[in-house]
Amino acid sequence: MPLARGHFPAARIAHVTGTRHRNIRRTRHRNIRRTRHRNIRRTRHRNIRRTRHRIRRIHASYATAAMASTAVVTGGRGFIASHLLPALVSSGWDVRTCGRRPRPDDLAGEIGYCQVDLADSSADLAPVVDGVSHVFHLAGASSSRSSEDEMFRNNVDATAHLLDAVSAAGVEVVVHMSSTSIYGEDEQLPSPVPETVQPAPSRAYGKAKWQTEQVVWRAVEAGLPAVVLRPVSVHGAGATKLLASAMLDVAIERYAGLGTVVVGPTPVEQRLLHVDDVVAATLYLADHAPARGRAFNLAMPHYPSSHEVAALLADELGLGFEVVDDADCGPSTEERAAARVRMLAEGMTDDILFTPERFRFMRKANRNNRLDLGALLGTGFRLGQTDLKDAVAELGAWYGERRWIL
Ligand SMILES: NC(=O)c1ccc[n+]([C@@H]2O[C@H](COP(=O)([O-])OP(=O)(O)OC[C@H]3O[C@@H](n4cnc5c(N)ncnc54)[C@H](OP(=O)(O)O)[C@@H]3O)[C@@H](O)[C@H]2O)c1
Repeated sequence: MPLARGHFPAARIAHVTGTRHRNIRRTRHRNIRRTRHRNIRRTRHRNIRRTRHRIRRIHASYATAAMASTAVVTGGRGFIASHLLPALVSSGWDVRTCGRRPRPDDLAGEIGYCQVDLADSSADLAPVVDGVSHVFHLAGASSSRSSEDEMFRNNVDATAHLLDAVSAAGVEVVVHMSSTSIYGEDEQLPSPVPETVQPAPSRAYGKAKWQTEQVVWRAVEAGLPAVVLRPVSVHGAGATKLLASAMLDVAIERYAGLGTVVVGPTPVEQRLLHVDDVVAATLYLADHAPARGRAFNLAMPHYPSSHEVAALLADELGLGFEVVDDADCGPSTEERAAARVRMLAEGMTDDILFTPERFRFMRKANRNNRLDLGALLGTGFRLGQTDLKDAVAELGAWYGERRWIL
């Protein structure tokens, strides 16, 4: 039974009342902070939706500007394709796609689908390419979820097989999605790196992508009209690696009850690109005649530091941010993994790649980080999504709504 006020000596009453007041004040302040944070996020998300609506209209104009109307997008279940396909459909293109698995249930009805393994040399690819004017070749395997053999098979072999079929079908243009990983990190290349440099890939993924490009260049020499894009790390709704993994890292720490994201003292320069800009560049360059037979670096024109990116991620998820002296700061792999298991048990999906090393993608310094964007900008193309804060807010909302993070 609660004691009446009069039963406490005056000092005790003052103490109890003081504590109560302090607690009430703290709760009030916390609620105010939370409401303010929620309101800021709401306003930010509303502004982002407006900006993205405007950018989508610009992208749509790239897609509608292209007169030809029948396209195949390979790797249709993939992250970038999941943005390119709707852009084409909404602009009235006749579109088909392909993948190794059965037709996905959530693929829009108007999109044709072929189940095929492009690397299987016995597979008939005529249904994939016959009657098509544009080939957007996005299928491929990256390092995070594939063995080295798979990377070569699903990039090099698949592209060689596809291009044989494409040559026979006589398409108007092939846009091949390569990667800046072909430049490598061991050898110092000219900075910023121009597309004309001799690539020196250092890891298996970069080697596979460079070997794949050589398949494309041989076909170009034989007369294939092709454009090669070399994007850096791409982020956006539906991405499962890189920036997405870093956001999962922050979400794990929030879930574990940590109030501040701590990072080591040395910032690492990042290079990033929004998926909307990949889609826009793909559509723009496909029908830009002087782009044929050329390669294009694709990246944001500025290079945020790992500290900037981590601070934005922390802020988006309502955590503080601090740079500390210890390069190995933060929770251990085991602690993070255990928190993630609890999140999965509570309904989080496992779509985003969990990396044993915290903030793995932001730790790698790359001596060939800076890219020459002169070729891209010289075509008249302009990037539309260069505000990282907006992009991070968009990711936070998208992943949160789908419970890719809790
Ligand atoms: N995401 C990035 O940050 C980034 C950066 C630079 C370059 N790129 C390049 O851009 C392209 C698209 O990237 P993404 O992130 O969207 O890739 P993704 O999500 O991994 O999708 C790739 C798709 O390729 C399909 N695929 C793989 N091997 C195949 C084969 N043998 N036959 C048919 N389909 C096959 C897979 O579909 P199924 O499993 O259904 O067969 C998968 O859905 C890739 O070539 C990648 O190297 C990506």
